[in-house]
Amino acid sequence: MSTGVDNTLVRVFDTTLRDGEQSPGATLTSAEKLEIARQLAHLGVDIIEAGFPAASPDDLAAVQRIAREVGTANGPTICGLARAVEKDILTCWEGVKDAAKPRIHTFLGMSDIHLKYISNITHEQALEIVRKAVKLARSLCADVEFSPMDAARADPQFLVEACAAAIESGATTLNIPDTVGYATPVEWGEFIGNLIAETPGAGPNSGIIWSVHCHNDLGLATANTLSGVLAGARQVEVTINGIGERAGNTSLEEVVMALHTRSKYYTLRTNINTREIMKTSRLVSNYTGMNVQPNKAIVGANAFAHEAGIHQDGMLKHASTFEIMTPETVGLHQSRLVLGKHSGRHALKVRLQEMGFKIEGDALNQVFMRFKELADAKKTVTDADLEALIADEFHGPEELFSLSDIQVTCGTMGMPTATVKMRSIAGDEFVHAAVGRGPVDASYKAIDAIVKAPNTLIEYSVHSVTEGIDALGEVTVRISPADDEKRSFGGYGADSDIVVASVKAYLAAVNRMVAVMGLAGQKPEGEVSTVTVQHAEK
Ligand code: KIV
Ligand code: ZN
Repeated sequence: MSTGVDNTLVRVFDTTLRDGEQSPGATLTSAEKLEIARQLAHLGVDIIEAGFPAASPDDLAAVQRIAREVGTANGPTICGLARAVEKDILTCWEGVKDAAKPRIHTFLGMSDIHLKYISNITHEQALEIVRKAVKLARSLCADVEFSPMDAARADPQFLVEACAAAIESGATTLNIPDTVGYATPVEWGEFIGNLIAETPGAGPNSGIIWSVHCHNDLGLATANTLSGVLAGARQVEVTINGIGERAGNTSLEEVVMALHTRSKYYTLRTNINTREIMKTSRLVSNYTGMNVQPNKAIVGANAFAHEAGIHQDGMLKHASTFEIMTPETVGLHQSRLVLGKHSGRHALKVRLQEMGFKIEGDALNQVFMRFKELADAKKTVTDADLEALIADEFHGPEELFSLSDIQVTCGTMGMPTATVKMRSIAGDEFVHAAVGRGPVDASYKAIDAIVKAPNTLIEYSVHSVTEGIDALGEVTVRISPADDEKRSFGGYGADSDIVVASVKAYLAAVNRMVAVMGLAGQKPEGEVSTVTVQHAEK
Protein backbone atom coordinates (compact mmCIF):
# COMPACT_ATOMS: atom_id res chain seq x y z
CA MET A 1 0.00 0.00 0.00
CA SER A 2 1.43 3.41 -0.94
CA THR A 3 1.31 6.11 1.73
CA GLY A 4 2.02 8.96 -0.64
CA VAL A 5 5.38 9.58 1.09
CA ASP A 6 7.81 11.22 -1.35
CA ASN A 7 10.81 8.95 -1.22
CA THR A 8 13.02 11.20 -3.32
CA LEU A 9 12.73 14.06 -0.84
CA VAL A 10 15.29 14.33 1.94
CA ARG A 11 13.65 16.38 4.69
CA VAL A 12 15.92 18.93 6.30
CA PHE A 13 15.42 19.08 10.07
CA ASP A 14 17.35 22.06 11.39
CA THR A 15 18.40 21.92 15.03
CA THR A 16 20.55 25.09 15.11
CA LEU A 17 18.25 26.60 17.73
CA ARG A 18 18.36 23.50 19.94
CA ASP A 19 21.46 21.32 19.51
CA GLY A 20 23.34 24.25 17.90
CA GLU A 21 22.53 26.53 20.77
CA GLN A 22 24.01 23.90 23.09
CA SER A 23 27.46 24.86 21.74
CA PRO A 24 29.49 26.34 24.56
CA GLY A 25 29.02 30.11 24.55
CA ALA A 26 26.44 30.17 21.76
CA THR A 27 23.45 31.29 23.83
CA LEU A 28 20.92 33.27 21.82
CA THR A 29 18.32 35.78 22.94
CA SER A 30 14.73 35.02 22.09
CA ALA A 31 14.67 37.88 19.53
CA GLU A 32 17.75 36.41 17.86
CA LYS A 33 16.16 32.95 17.84
CA LEU A 34 13.08 34.36 16.15
CA GLU A 35 15.13 36.09 13.48
CA ILE A 36 17.15 32.94 12.81
CA ALA A 37 13.93 30.90 12.64
CA ARG A 38 12.52 33.32 10.05
CA GLN A 39 15.68 32.99 7.98
CA LEU A 40 15.57 29.17 8.29
CA ALA A 41 12.04 29.34 6.88
CA HIS A 42 13.35 31.44 3.93
CA LEU A 43 16.09 28.91 3.48
CA GLY A 44 13.40 26.25 3.05
CA VAL A 45 14.06 23.86 5.94
CA ASP A 46 11.20 21.41 6.46
CA ILE A 47 11.39 21.25 10.25
CA ILE A 48 12.80 23.72 12.77
CA GLU A 49 13.68 22.29 16.16
CA ALA A 50 13.04 25.55 17.98
CA GLY A 51 14.25 24.57 21.43
CA PHE A 52 13.85 22.49 24.54
CA PRO A 53 10.75 24.03 26.19
CA ALA A 54 11.15 22.27 29.55
CA ALA A 55 14.69 23.64 29.95
CA SER A 56 13.51 27.07 31.18
CA PRO A 57 10.54 29.46 30.96
CA ASP A 58 12.59 31.53 28.47
CA ASP A 59 13.10 28.52 26.24
CA LEU A 60 9.38 27.77 26.37
CA ALA A 61 8.51 31.38 25.49
CA ALA A 62 10.99 31.41 22.57
CA VAL A 63 9.55 28.17 21.16
CA GLN A 64 6.00 29.50 21.53
CA ARG A 65 6.87 32.69 19.69
CA ILE A 66 8.53 30.81 16.84
CA ALA A 67 5.54 28.42 16.66
CA ARG A 68 3.13 31.35 16.35
CA GLU A 69 5.14 33.62 14.09
CA VAL A 70 7.12 31.26 11.87
CA GLY A 71 5.06 28.06 12.05
CA THR A 72 2.40 29.29 9.62
CA ALA A 73 0.47 27.04 7.23
CA ASN A 74 3.05 27.56 4.47
CA GLY A 75 5.95 27.58 6.88
CA PRO A 76 8.02 24.76 8.33
CA THR A 77 6.99 22.24 10.97
CA ILE A 78 7.92 23.57 14.41
CA CYS A 79 9.33 20.96 16.73
CA GLY A 80 10.27 20.98 20.42
CA LEU A 81 12.49 18.54 22.27
CA ALA A 82 11.34 16.65 25.36
CA ARG A 83 12.92 13.97 27.54
CA ALA A 84 10.72 10.86 27.74
CA VAL A 85 8.99 12.16 30.84
CA GLU A 86 5.45 13.47 31.26
CA LYS A 87 6.36 16.98 32.43
CA ASP A 88 8.73 17.60 29.49
CA ILE A 89 6.24 16.31 26.95
CA LEU A 90 3.39 18.44 28.30
CA THR A 91 5.61 21.54 28.35
CA CYS A 92 6.87 20.78 24.88
CA TRP A 93 3.29 20.64 23.62
CA GLU A 94 2.64 24.03 25.24
CA GLY A 95 5.56 25.30 23.21
CA VAL A 96 4.63 24.00 19.77
CA LYS A 97 0.85 23.61 19.80
CA ASP A 98 0.15 26.98 18.12
CA ALA A 99 2.17 26.10 15.04
CA ALA A 100 0.20 25.05 11.96
CA LYS A 101 2.40 21.94 11.86
CA PRO A 102 3.65 21.09 15.39
CA ARG A 103 5.93 18.19 16.29
CA ILE A 104 7.00 16.67 19.61
CA HIS A 105 10.46 15.10 19.63
CA THR A 106 11.09 12.82 22.58
CA PHE A 107 14.22 10.84 23.38
CA LEU A 108 15.80 8.38 25.77
CA GLY A 109 19.41 7.14 25.98
CA MET A 110 19.38 3.54 24.70
CA SER A 111 23.00 2.39 24.75
CA ASP A 112 23.97 0.17 27.67
CA ILE A 113 26.34 2.92 28.78
CA HIS A 114 23.47 5.44 29.02
CA LEU A 115 21.04 2.93 30.53
CA LYS A 116 23.53 2.05 33.24
CA TYR A 117 25.15 5.40 34.06
CA ILE A 118 22.41 7.91 33.27
CA SER A 119 19.06 6.21 33.92
CA ASN A 120 20.10 3.08 35.80
CA ILE A 121 17.30 1.03 34.21
CA THR A 122 16.97 -2.31 32.39
CA HIS A 123 16.15 -2.83 28.70
CA GLU A 124 12.58 -3.74 29.65
CA GLN A 125 12.13 -0.64 31.77
CA ALA A 126 13.51 1.50 28.94
CA LEU A 127 11.05 0.01 26.43
CA GLU A 128 8.21 0.76 28.83
CA ILE A 129 9.30 4.39 29.20
CA VAL A 130 9.48 4.76 25.41
CA ARG A 131 5.97 3.33 24.96
CA LYS A 132 4.50 5.62 27.62
CA ALA A 133 6.27 8.75 26.39
CA VAL A 134 5.44 8.25 22.72
CA LYS A 135 1.81 7.41 23.50
CA LEU A 136 1.46 10.57 25.58
CA ALA A 137 3.09 12.69 22.87
CA ARG A 138 0.87 11.13 20.22
CA SER A 139 -2.26 11.80 22.28
CA LEU A 140 -1.36 15.50 22.01
CA CYS A 141 0.22 15.79 18.57
CA ALA A 142 -0.17 13.93 15.27
CA ASP A 143 3.51 14.31 14.46
CA VAL A 144 5.84 12.55 16.94
CA GLU A 145 9.53 11.86 16.60
CA PHE A 146 11.41 9.41 18.79
CA SER A 147 15.21 9.29 19.18
CA PRO A 148 17.05 6.42 20.88
CA MET A 149 19.97 8.52 22.11
CA ASP A 150 23.51 7.12 21.67
CA ALA A 151 22.15 4.64 19.12
CA ALA A 152 25.57 4.19 17.50
CA ARG A 153 26.82 2.49 20.70
CA ALA A 154 23.57 0.64 21.48
CA ASP A 155 22.94 -3.08 21.06
CA PRO A 156 21.50 -3.30 17.47
CA GLN A 157 18.91 -5.95 18.41
CA PHE A 158 17.69 -3.90 21.36
CA LEU A 159 17.50 -0.85 19.10
CA VAL A 160 15.18 -2.75 16.74
CA GLU A 161 12.91 -3.50 19.72
CA ALA A 162 12.98 0.14 20.83
CA CYS A 163 12.14 1.43 17.35
CA ALA A 164 9.32 -1.12 17.00
CA ALA A 165 7.94 -0.06 20.39
CA ALA A 166 8.02 3.60 19.34
CA ILE A 167 6.21 2.86 16.07
CA GLU A 168 3.53 0.76 17.81
CA SER A 169 3.01 3.63 20.24
CA GLY A 170 2.49 6.19 17.46
CA ALA A 171 5.88 7.64 16.46
CA THR A 172 5.88 8.95 12.89
CA THR A 173 9.61 9.71 12.59
CA LEU A 174 12.41 7.56 13.97
CA ASN A 175 15.60 9.53 14.39
CA ILE A 176 18.80 7.55 14.92
CA PRO A 177 21.46 9.62 16.67
CA ASP A 178 25.18 9.09 16.72
CA THR A 179 25.24 11.20 19.85
CA VAL A 180 28.97 10.99 20.48
CA GLY A 181 30.21 10.98 16.87
CA TYR A 182 31.51 7.42 17.18
CA ALA A 183 30.33 5.91 13.89
CA THR A 184 32.25 5.59 10.63
CA PRO A 185 30.53 5.99 7.25
CA VAL A 186 30.36 2.46 5.80
CA GLU A 187 29.54 0.89 9.17
CA TRP A 188 26.87 3.55 9.87
CA GLY A 189 25.22 3.01 6.48
CA GLU A 190 24.97 -0.73 7.16
CA PHE A 191 23.71 -0.06 10.68
CA ILE A 192 20.89 2.22 9.42
CA GLY A 193 20.06 -0.11 6.51
CA ASN A 194 19.75 -3.12 8.84
CA LEU A 195 17.67 -1.17 11.36
CA ILE A 196 15.20 -0.12 8.65
CA ALA A 197 15.02 -3.65 7.24
CA GLU A 198 14.60 -5.38 10.60
CA THR A 199 12.19 -3.07 12.40
CA PRO A 200 8.67 -4.46 11.97
CA GLY A 201 6.15 -2.03 10.50
CA ALA A 202 8.82 0.40 9.29
CA GLY A 203 9.40 -0.49 5.64
CA PRO A 204 9.56 2.02 2.76
CA ASN A 205 5.76 2.14 2.35
CA SER A 206 4.88 2.29 6.03
CA GLY A 207 4.79 6.08 6.14
CA ILE A 208 7.53 6.08 8.80
CA ILE A 209 10.33 8.54 8.10
CA TRP A 210 13.78 7.42 9.15
CA SER A 211 16.19 10.13 10.17
CA VAL A 212 19.87 10.42 11.07
CA HIS A 213 21.43 12.81 13.59
CA CYS A 214 25.22 12.75 13.61
CA HIS A 215 27.82 14.51 15.70
CA ASN A 216 31.23 15.46 14.42
CA ASP A 217 33.66 14.19 17.06
CA LEU A 218 35.71 12.35 14.43
CA GLY A 219 35.00 14.86 11.67
CA LEU A 220 32.69 12.31 10.02
CA ALA A 221 29.26 13.83 10.62
CA THR A 222 28.58 14.80 7.00
CA ALA A 223 29.94 11.52 5.62
CA ASN A 224 27.89 9.51 8.13
CA THR A 225 24.73 11.49 7.39
CA LEU A 226 25.08 10.93 3.64
CA SER A 227 25.76 7.27 4.28
CA GLY A 228 22.54 7.12 6.31
CA VAL A 229 20.68 8.75 3.43
CA LEU A 230 22.02 6.16 0.99
CA ALA A 231 20.78 3.48 3.39
CA GLY A 232 17.23 4.86 3.37
CA ALA A 233 17.05 7.80 5.81
CA ARG A 234 14.84 10.55 4.42
CA GLN A 235 15.35 13.13 7.13
CA VAL A 236 18.69 14.69 8.08
CA GLU A 237 19.20 16.51 11.36
CA VAL A 238 21.64 19.33 10.82
CA THR A 239 22.75 22.76 12.01
CA ILE A 240 23.93 25.88 10.20
CA ASN A 241 27.75 26.04 10.10
CA GLY A 242 27.75 22.65 11.87
CA ILE A 243 27.53 24.22 15.31
CA GLY A 244 26.49 22.02 18.23
CA GLU A 245 27.65 20.10 21.28
CA ARG A 246 31.45 19.55 21.45
CA ALA A 247 32.75 19.23 17.84
CA GLY A 248 29.29 20.08 16.54
CA ASN A 249 26.53 18.53 14.49
CA THR A 250 26.33 17.71 10.80
CA SER A 251 26.40 20.95 8.85
CA LEU A 252 23.31 21.72 6.82
CA GLU A 253 25.18 23.40 4.00
CA GLU A 254 27.54 20.46 3.48
CA VAL A 255 24.81 17.83 3.24
CA VAL A 256 22.53 19.98 1.11
CA MET A 257 25.28 20.97 -1.31
CA ALA A 258 26.51 17.37 -1.57
CA LEU A 259 23.00 16.22 -2.52
CA HIS A 260 22.70 19.18 -4.91
CA THR A 261 26.13 19.03 -6.53
CA ARG A 262 26.16 15.25 -6.82
CA SER A 263 22.47 14.90 -7.68
CA LYS A 264 23.20 12.39 -10.45
CA TYR A 265 24.77 10.13 -7.88
CA TYR A 266 22.22 10.53 -5.08
CA THR A 267 19.10 11.10 -7.26
CA LEU A 268 17.49 12.82 -4.28
CA ARG A 269 16.39 16.38 -3.59
CA THR A 270 15.77 18.79 -0.73
CA ASN A 271 13.47 21.80 -0.42
CA ILE A 272 16.39 24.11 0.38
CA ASN A 273 16.86 27.34 -1.54
CA THR A 274 20.63 27.06 -1.70
CA ARG A 275 21.01 30.78 -2.54
CA GLU A 276 20.02 31.58 1.02
CA ILE A 277 22.85 29.52 2.51
CA MET A 278 25.49 32.26 2.90
CA LYS A 279 23.05 34.71 4.38
CA THR A 280 21.88 32.15 6.93
CA SER A 281 25.43 31.17 7.76
CA ARG A 282 26.43 34.79 8.44
CA LEU A 283 23.36 35.44 10.54
CA VAL A 284 24.01 32.42 12.74
CA SER A 285 27.69 33.22 13.02
CA ASN A 286 26.97 36.83 14.01
CA TYR A 287 24.37 35.97 16.61
CA THR A 288 26.14 33.01 18.19
CA GLY A 289 29.55 34.71 18.05
CA MET A 290 30.94 31.50 16.57
CA ASN A 291 33.20 32.39 13.67
CA VAL A 292 33.26 30.14 10.65
CA GLN A 293 36.73 28.76 10.01
CA PRO A 294 38.09 30.16 6.69
CA ASN A 295 38.52 26.73 5.12
CA LYS A 296 35.05 25.49 6.14
CA ALA A 297 33.35 23.75 3.21
CA ILE A 298 30.70 25.83 1.41
CA VAL A 299 30.54 28.82 3.79
CA GLY A 300 34.18 29.45 4.79
CA ALA A 301 35.79 32.67 3.52
CA ASN A 302 38.17 30.60 1.38
CA ALA A 303 35.60 28.14 0.01
CA PHE A 304 35.51 30.01 -3.30
CA ALA A 305 38.91 31.71 -3.12
CA HIS A 306 41.91 30.82 -5.26
CA GLU A 307 45.47 31.97 -4.76
CA ALA A 308 47.86 29.67 -6.61
CA GLY A 309 48.90 31.09 -9.99
CA ILE A 310 47.99 27.87 -11.83
CA HIS A 311 44.55 27.80 -10.21
CA GLN A 312 43.92 31.47 -10.95
CA ASP A 313 44.97 31.02 -14.55
CA GLY A 314 42.61 28.02 -14.85
CA MET A 315 39.75 29.92 -13.20
CA LEU A 316 40.21 32.82 -15.61
CA LYS A 317 39.96 30.39 -18.53
CA HIS A 318 36.97 28.45 -17.17
CA ALA A 319 35.59 28.32 -13.64
CA SER A 320 34.89 24.59 -13.94
CA THR A 321 38.66 23.96 -13.83
CA PHE A 322 38.80 24.44 -10.07
CA GLU A 323 35.22 24.81 -8.84
CA ILE A 324 32.61 22.06 -8.56
CA MET A 325 29.77 24.46 -7.77
CA THR A 326 29.26 28.11 -8.54
CA PRO A 327 29.47 30.65 -5.72
CA GLU A 328 26.14 32.07 -6.89
CA THR A 329 24.45 28.75 -5.99
CA VAL A 330 25.14 29.39 -2.31
CA GLY A 331 24.37 33.08 -2.48
CA LEU A 332 27.80 34.58 -3.10
CA HIS A 333 28.35 37.05 -5.91
CA GLN A 334 31.56 35.66 -7.31
CA SER A 335 34.64 33.59 -6.69
CA ARG A 336 37.60 35.38 -5.22
CA LEU A 337 40.97 35.31 -6.85
CA VAL A 338 43.13 36.10 -3.86
CA LEU A 339 46.12 38.08 -5.00
CA GLY A 340 49.15 37.03 -3.04
CA LYS A 341 52.72 36.00 -3.61
CA HIS A 342 51.65 32.93 -5.60
CA SER A 343 49.62 34.94 -8.09
CA GLY A 344 50.74 35.50 -11.65
CA ARG A 345 50.74 38.45 -14.05
CA HIS A 346 47.57 37.23 -15.78
CA ALA A 347 45.51 37.34 -12.57
CA LEU A 348 46.90 40.77 -11.68
CA LYS A 349 46.11 42.16 -15.14
CA VAL A 350 42.54 40.82 -15.04
CA ARG A 351 41.94 42.16 -11.54
CA LEU A 352 43.27 45.59 -12.56
CA GLN A 353 40.99 45.53 -15.61
CA GLU A 354 38.00 44.69 -13.41
CA MET A 355 38.93 47.67 -11.28
CA GLY A 356 39.01 49.90 -14.37
CA PHE A 357 42.79 50.10 -14.92
CA LYS A 358 43.91 49.03 -18.36
CA ILE A 359 47.62 48.47 -17.84
CA GLU A 360 49.79 46.63 -20.30
CA GLY A 361 53.35 46.13 -21.50
CA ASP A 362 56.14 47.79 -19.51
CA ALA A 363 53.68 49.52 -17.20
CA LEU A 364 52.19 46.16 -16.26
CA ASN A 365 55.66 44.75 -15.67
CA GLN A 366 56.45 47.64 -13.38
CA VAL A 367 53.20 47.25 -11.44
CA PHE A 368 53.70 43.49 -11.26
CA MET A 369 57.16 44.02 -9.78
CA ARG A 370 55.78 46.32 -7.10
CA PHE A 371 52.85 43.98 -6.53
CA LYS A 372 55.29 41.11 -5.88
CA GLU A 373 57.25 43.21 -3.40
CA LEU A 374 54.04 44.04 -1.61
CA ALA A 375 52.83 40.43 -1.69
CA ASP A 376 56.10 39.38 -0.09
CA ALA A 377 55.59 41.94 2.67
CA LYS A 378 51.96 41.08 3.36
CA LYS A 379 49.89 37.94 2.86
CA THR A 380 47.02 39.16 0.71
CA VAL A 381 46.96 42.06 -1.70
CA THR A 382 43.47 43.53 -1.83
CA ASP A 383 41.75 45.88 -4.27
CA ALA A 384 42.42 48.76 -1.89
CA ASP A 385 46.12 47.86 -1.86
CA LEU A 386 46.14 47.82 -5.65
CA GLU A 387 44.41 51.17 -5.89
CA ALA A 388 46.98 52.69 -3.57
CA LEU A 389 49.79 51.11 -5.52
CA ILE A 390 48.46 52.33 -8.88
CA ALA A 391 47.94 55.83 -7.52
CA ASP A 392 51.48 55.84 -6.21
CA GLU A 393 52.91 54.45 -9.43
CA PHE A 394 51.10 56.57 -12.00
CA HIS A 395 49.60 59.64 -10.48
CA GLY A 396 52.59 61.25 -8.78
CA PRO A 397 53.87 64.62 -10.05
CA GLU A 398 57.03 64.91 -12.05
CA GLU A 399 59.75 64.08 -9.56
CA LEU A 400 62.14 67.01 -9.20
CA PHE A 401 63.51 65.19 -6.20
CA SER A 402 63.18 61.47 -5.72
CA LEU A 403 63.80 59.40 -2.67
CA SER A 404 66.77 57.07 -2.88
CA ASP A 405 66.95 55.81 0.70
CA ILE A 406 65.78 56.57 4.16
CA GLN A 407 66.78 55.32 7.55
CA VAL A 408 65.22 56.28 10.85
CA THR A 409 66.00 55.59 14.46
CA CYS A 410 63.37 56.18 17.06
CA GLY A 411 62.12 54.86 20.37
CA THR A 412 62.04 55.95 23.97
CA MET A 413 65.82 56.49 24.25
CA GLY A 414 67.42 59.39 22.42
CA MET A 415 66.19 61.69 19.71
CA PRO A 416 64.23 60.40 16.72
CA THR A 417 66.62 60.80 13.79
CA ALA A 418 66.13 60.40 10.05
CA THR A 419 68.79 60.17 7.39
CA VAL A 420 67.41 60.85 3.94
CA LYS A 421 69.19 60.31 0.64
CA MET A 422 67.60 61.98 -2.40
CA ARG A 423 68.42 62.54 -6.05
CA SER A 424 67.50 65.62 -8.03
CA ILE A 425 66.15 65.54 -11.57
CA ALA A 426 69.60 66.79 -12.65
CA GLY A 427 71.20 63.68 -11.18
CA ASP A 428 72.73 65.26 -8.07
CA GLU A 429 72.65 63.24 -4.89
CA PHE A 430 71.99 64.72 -1.44
CA VAL A 431 72.13 63.24 2.03
CA HIS A 432 70.88 64.91 5.16
CA ALA A 433 70.23 63.80 8.71
CA ALA A 434 67.83 65.60 11.02
CA VAL A 435 66.24 65.10 14.40
CA GLY A 436 62.57 65.66 15.10
CA ARG A 437 59.70 64.93 17.44
CA GLY A 438 59.23 61.55 15.83
CA PRO A 439 60.56 59.62 12.83
CA VAL A 440 58.15 61.29 10.39
CA ASP A 441 58.92 64.79 11.67
CA ALA A 442 62.65 64.06 11.50
CA SER A 443 62.31 62.80 7.90
CA TYR A 444 60.35 65.88 6.85
CA LYS A 445 63.02 68.12 8.41
CA ALA A 446 65.73 66.26 6.47
CA ILE A 447 63.80 66.69 3.22
CA ASP A 448 63.27 70.40 3.97
CA ALA A 449 66.99 70.80 4.56
CA ILE A 450 67.73 69.36 1.13
CA VAL A 451 64.97 70.95 -0.95
CA LYS A 452 64.93 74.28 0.90
CA ALA A 453 61.36 74.99 -0.09
CA PRO A 454 59.85 76.53 3.04
CA ASN A 455 56.35 75.32 3.68
CA THR A 456 53.81 74.63 6.39
CA LEU A 457 52.35 71.18 6.86
CA ILE A 458 48.63 71.81 7.09
CA GLU A 459 47.30 68.28 6.91
CA TYR A 460 48.71 64.84 7.55
CA SER A 461 46.57 61.75 7.57
CA VAL A 462 47.46 58.14 7.72
CA HIS A 463 45.33 55.08 7.50
CA SER A 464 45.85 51.46 6.86
CA VAL A 465 44.30 50.45 3.57
CA THR A 466 43.88 46.92 4.75
CA GLU A 467 43.37 45.09 8.00
CA GLY A 468 46.11 43.48 9.99
CA ILE A 469 49.64 44.18 11.09
CA ASP A 470 50.94 43.66 7.57
CA ALA A 471 48.59 46.23 6.03
CA LEU A 472 49.61 48.72 3.38
CA GLY A 473 49.66 52.22 4.85
CA GLU A 474 48.32 55.16 2.92
CA VAL A 475 49.43 58.67 3.79
CA THR A 476 48.10 61.94 2.44
CA VAL A 477 49.62 65.31 3.24
CA ARG A 478 48.82 68.88 2.34
CA ILE A 479 51.35 71.70 2.51
CA SER A 480 51.26 75.45 1.91
CA PRO A 481 54.19 77.55 0.71
CA ALA A 482 55.52 79.59 3.63
CA ASP A 483 54.73 82.88 1.91
CA ASP A 484 51.40 81.97 0.36
CA GLU A 485 49.06 80.35 2.82
CA LYS A 486 46.17 80.45 0.39
CA ARG A 487 47.74 77.87 -1.88
CA SER A 488 48.13 74.28 -0.95
CA PHE A 489 49.57 71.16 -2.53
CA GLY A 490 48.66 67.60 -1.77
CA GLY A 491 50.74 64.46 -1.89
CA TYR A 492 49.99 60.78 -1.52
CA GLY A 493 52.16 57.81 -0.65
CA ALA A 494 51.57 54.14 0.00
CA ASP A 495 53.94 51.59 1.45
CA SER A 496 53.91 48.71 3.90
CA ASP A 497 56.31 50.88 6.01
CA ILE A 498 54.38 53.84 7.34
CA VAL A 499 57.43 56.15 7.60
CA VAL A 500 58.33 55.45 3.98
CA ALA A 501 54.70 56.09 2.97
CA SER A 502 54.84 59.38 4.89
CA VAL A 503 58.04 60.44 3.15
CA LYS A 504 56.66 59.54 -0.27
CA ALA A 505 53.55 61.59 0.39
CA TYR A 506 55.48 64.60 1.63
CA LEU A 507 57.95 64.45 -1.22
CA ALA A 508 55.09 64.22 -3.72
CA ALA A 509 53.56 67.38 -2.23
CA VAL A 510 56.89 69.21 -2.12
CA ASN A 511 57.67 68.23 -5.72
CA ARG A 512 54.27 69.47 -6.81
CA MET A 513 54.74 72.74 -4.96
CA VAL A 514 58.20 73.30 -6.36
CA ALA A 515 57.08 72.42 -9.90
CA VAL A 516 54.05 74.69 -9.83
CA MET A 517 55.61 77.60 -7.98
CA GLY A 518 58.68 77.25 -10.19
CA LEU A 519 62.33 76.70 -9.54
CA ALA A 520 64.70 79.64 -10.04
CA GLY A 521 65.15 80.05 -13.78
CA GLN A 522 62.40 77.52 -14.55
CA LYS A 523 59.36 79.61 -13.85
CA PRO A 524 56.20 78.15 -15.43
CA GLU A 525 54.13 80.62 -17.44
CA GLY A 526 51.64 82.57 -15.42
CA GLU A 527 53.03 81.39 -12.13
CA VAL A 528 54.96 83.48 -9.66
CA SER A 529 58.27 82.01 -8.59
CA THR A 530 58.46 82.15 -4.87
CA VAL A 531 60.60 79.13 -4.18
CA THR A 532 64.27 78.78 -4.70
CA VAL A 533 65.88 75.44 -4.25
CA GLN A 534 69.40 75.46 -2.90
CA HIS A 535 71.47 72.35 -2.70
CA ALA A 536 72.43 71.06 0.68
CA GLU A 537 75.94 69.80 1.23
CA LYS A 538 76.75 67.03 -1.19
O1 KIV B 1 22.74 13.88 19.95
C1 KIV B 1 21.65 13.43 20.37
O2 KIV B 1 21.48 12.26 20.65
C2 KIV B 1 20.56 14.38 20.50
C3 KIV B 1 19.23 13.80 20.77
C4 KIV B 1 18.47 14.61 21.73
C5 KIV B 1 18.51 13.61 19.47
O3 KIV B 1 20.74 15.57 20.30
ZN1 ZN C 1 22.61 15.87 19.18
